[in-house]
Amino acid sequence: MFKIGCLQFSPVLGDPAATMQKLSALLPQAAALDLLVLPELCNSGYDFTSAEQAWETSESVGDSQFIDFLSEICQKHKYHIVSGFNERSGDQLFNSAVLVGPEGYLGKYQKLHLFYNEKDFFQPGQAGLPVFEINGCKLGIQVCFDWMYPEAWRVLALKGADLICHTSNLVLPGLAQRAVPIHAMINRVYTITANRVGTEGELTFTGRSFIADPLGNILEEASATGEELLTGEIDVGLARNKQLTVKNDLFLDRRPADYTALIETNHGG
Ligand code: ACM
Repeated sequence: MFKIGCLQFSPVLGDPAATMQKLSALLPQAAALDLLVLPELCNSGYDFTSAEQAWETSESVGDSQFIDFLSEICQKHKYHIVSGFNERSGDQLFNSAVLVGPEGYLGKYQKLHLFYNEKDFFQPGQAGLPVFEINGCKLGIQVCFDWMYPEAWRVLALKGADLICHTSNLVLPGLAQRAVPIHAMINRVYTITANRVGTEGELTFTGRSFIADPLGNILEEASATGEELLTGEIDVGLARNKQLTVKNDLFLDRRPADYTALIETNHGG
């Protein structure tokens, strides 16, 4: 069994050093896991008051105190972390998530579907929808508002993901908490949504992080406001069994030739 967890907490807006100090106190709780998921934009906070603040709290993956910090934690506890990351690449910013392990930085996903004011600071992702393998578990990554786009979750499942790590700063109460277990059910994958709590500016983050199984059951759920660690176990055999009945295989029964509207860019009838 592959052990997963997510830390629901509140990063400190504009102060990565304070966030790392907070994480140093919280992360030892997660020592028995294989994989820990942290919220969106964990190194910077979310509701930037200016473009300068967004820029100043960003880092490139090749030169990041935050990634070095996560690597040290992973080395110490022998686990992997997926964390939201305000990524600087050239003169652009991406709302990314990085995968880090005891051996250091392993890869990233850049959020494809930007929400509201994020469009003032970030570019839509250019890193596609990668799937990574850790200790026999294949995982894909989604960031917060990506929950609204079932296409991306399906692509990750088709690429073999057993688990989709959903690093989040959710602000629309209850919507992703309803949608993501359905993504888990209709793709037969595990999902883990690491949401945050607290407030920034006008925004209140909605907590209620959760783990769902390939049947769409919620295995664990956090409170709406507390800083909490949720843990669960992944049975990759269950995620890889796409046989719904003896006559229905989830993937083999698809009809891609009739889904061509999904790759067209002009819509509306
Ligand atoms: C969101 O995508 N952070 C709401």
